[in-house]
Amino acid sequence: MLRALRHDYEQHGVASYSHVGFAKMVNLFGPDANRFVLLDKDRIFSARKPWMLIMGRIFPNGLLLMDGQEHKTNRKIMHTAFTRPALRGYAERMNPMVAEGIASWDRDGSEVLAFHLLKQLTLGIAARVFVGAELGPETTRMNGAFEHLVAASMSQIRLPIPGLEFQRGLKARRFMVDYFRRMISDKRGGDSPDIFSRLTRTVTEDGERFEDQQIIDHMSFLMMAAHDTTTSTLSSMMYELAKHPEWQESVREECIAYGADELAFDDLDRFEITGRVMKETLRRYPPLPVIPRIAQEEVEFEGYRIPKGSMCVVSPIFTHYMSEWWTNPEDFDPDRFSQERAEDQRHSHSWIPFGGGPHMCIGLRFAETQVKLIMHHLTRRFRWSIAEGYEMPVQQAPISKPMDGLPIRLARVK
Ligand code: HEM
Repeated sequence: MLRALRHDYEQHGVASYSHVGFAKMVNLFGPDANRFVLLDKDRIFSARKPWMLIMGRIFPNGLLLMDGQEHKTNRKIMHTAFTRPALRGYAERMNPMVAEGIASWDRDGSEVLAFHLLKQLTLGIAARVFVGAELGPETTRMNGAFEHLVAASMSQIRLPIPGLEFQRGLKARRFMVDYFRRMISDKRGGDSPDIFSRLTRTVTEDGERFEDQQIIDHMSFLMMAAHDTTTSTLSSMMYELAKHPEWQESVREECIAYGADELAFDDLDRFEITGRVMKETLRRYPPLPVIPRIAQEEVEFEGYRIPKGSMCVVSPIFTHYMSEWWTNPEDFDPDRFSQERAEDQRHSHSWIPFGGGPHMCIGLRFAETQVKLIMHHLTRRFRWSIAEGYEMPVQQAPISKPMDGLPIRLARVK
């Protein structure tokens, strides 16, 4: 994907035109284009329209599938589930689960697939922290249904034909809707600190709140938005740390020096090295390599005409490898994010793994919490490695992930 985008940029400059079927497509390159499209000061670009085409039947009414005032109101209500006190509570719940989950990874040094282990772990976290459910047969069913949902939202053939991924996804959606609906009144009446409960109880200062169906739709979308992106980030981080054992050791030393088994939310910023490694990993492997919008008016960008109705795509992956903005962009170099070098501060939109503007990821602090917490437990328990000469094969679209599950070996830290 990166090679094709670079080719287009070299041939055409900051905008390149193509067609997908009958639809006009414009690829826009570089930080200025990212700012123009994502900040969208003149309210020209719709996020709802392209994301509806991609996942509208499986995740209708998710936050990203909204524009304008509707989006603003829904985002404001949802924000109450991502305040500092809320995040502090999620971190407290996650610590023991992560410790237990990682302890079960011990396979006496035989090879394991890191991506699958991480996926199971993050699914377990989603059941507890998002839904507030105790792990058991019902959450196993929920996780299964959820996996079908995600697969269907990304599937190429979107016809409800029995046996196809898309049909399984529609069935899974019915299961999830029913599952959430049955729980709503209990959640509303209780005081549990999970995201689902918070969404049922939350009321803004203007008295705005979610209806039942809105809560169900937001829950499904949130779990999807959180899950694959974080699993992707953690897998890529494990890969880079296996390739660069000196960095793995630095992260481990930082986690050991912290001196406590459980990582407290208020101490997140003390994990500075882990933070730099996470940022560099997100630069090299942004889980969403490209971000789509549809232009609702004709508009011009740096002399290029963008036709009304065209699909406009900005590329975190392309921008993150531009040598105009990054020193030796092909190198894994977490120190580029140090205070002294701060390469990401050279432009407001040169590092955009979480997007930007009104739709910027609402869960970014949650993601940071989860990633740092998992690294804290993982590095103190295991040292991991990859086979000599191994290069991770990456499936870029729609969400980047290792195609082979990322085979690694785990050894206990003495
Ligand atoms: C490292 C992990 C993550 C990455 C890289 C990531 C990336 C992104 C990106 C690029 C967008 C913007 C898409 C666009 O503009 O079209 C986005 C939006 C969103 N993300 Fe994340 N995300 C991550 C984790 C999470 C988590 C943990 C949650 C929830 C707990 C979450 C919830 C959302 C939601 C709800 C939106 C839509 C926001 C809106 O439309 O206002 N994400 N994410």
